[in-house]
Amino acid sequence: MIKIKNYTHGADIYTTAIELDISENSIIDFSSNINPYGLSEGVKAAIIESLEYADRYPDVNCRALSEALSEFENVQKDYIFCSNGAEESIYRIVNFLKPKNAVVIAPTFSEYEHALEAVGCKIKYHYLKEENDFILDEDILDDITQKTDILFICNPNNPTGQLTEKKIIEKILAHCEKMDTIVVIDECFMDFVSDNEDYSVKNLLGIYSNLVILKAFTKIFAMAGIRLGYCMSSNIRIMDGIKETGPVWNVSTIAQAAGVAAVKETEYLKESLEYIDEQRKYLLDKLDILGLKVYSPSANYILFKCTKDIDLKYELLQYGIMIRSCANFEGLDDSYYRIAVKKEEDNKLLFRALKNIL
Ligand SMILES: Cc1ncc(COP(=O)(O)O)c(C=O)c1O
Repeated sequence: MIKIKNYTHGADIYTTAIELDISENSIIDFSSNINPYGLSEGVKAAIIESLEYADRYPDVNCRALSEALSEFENVQKDYIFCSNGAEESIYRIVNFLKPKNAVVIAPTFSEYEHALEAVGCKIKYHYLKEENDFILDEDILDDITQKTDILFICNPNNPTGQLTEKKIIEKILAHCEKMDTIVVIDECFMDFVSDNEDYSVKNLLGIYSNLVILKAFTKIFAMAGIRLGYCMSSNIRIMDGIKETGPVWNVSTIAQAAGVAAVKETEYLKESLEYIDEQRKYLLDKLDILGLKVYSPSANYILFKCTKDIDLKYELLQYGIMIRSCANFEGLDDSYYRIAVKKEEDNKLLFRALKNIL
């Protein structure tokens, strides 16, 4: 039997492949939540074309990309900062602000706490309740005081898939404004949400100067290996500060060209979102048949709970399938797992394997 260690994130197919002594290409990776349509043809063509200019340094101001993003997001271009994945934006924000006290919801994406810990910031977790299906509500306001320098909220939340309504976030923003607290809303999965105008707070950017929104090309445009993300804020002090905090050539010529092409891919977006919706329904139906408790998803991944005394991640690896154990998420334990919504044939393989195991 194959033994596998626990890793911080999903998507570490490289280490898993070494441990299993197989090629990483033969692992069916349900642990990272990437658009199953893969890189679009338009983006591939733009990358190839950009190689022509890869001997030049990239534009440090990402002008063409910011212009294209401004149109795509309907947000002023001087509110946008492009980064090497959304992760780099998280580290730049934290490195610039050097917060002493932070509030972070739990469970959530772990890079907020890693970035905060790296600058010695004290973290207060706001635990989301299982009995409330991990939905964030107004009781978080009690945790935000004048001592709170920064608050991180992921919407939709990774790994729970739960959405926070815009009216709740607006209350949080208003309260945080009084407390002089910066609010970082991670909307990296927002473009997967069908009625996302009811949840995204990008229309509040000019209204709340304490608001910073994180986004990425990583998931929705399946560009994880290219490394392209951005953050948006109307706060000039923060925007100038994060630019100064870190390397100037952080986004390659190739990534910039890929991003400009990606935002034009409206047909790709429409088709892939419809497909994900259909496949998510398939998976939900099958998980239900298997008697697993599912937390209603809103994006391209599903959190579920398995109460049987079994290591599902380990068992599925025997079938070449890798899922995300949520054991190392603050606020969860080893009975929780997250799976991505993948292509139909992969989803069917997962169901068959789960049926055999359970
Ligand atoms: C919620 C969330 N935000 C940000 C990131 C980081 O994205 P990127 O790969 O663009 O750095 C991830 C990656 O998993 C994520 O899940």
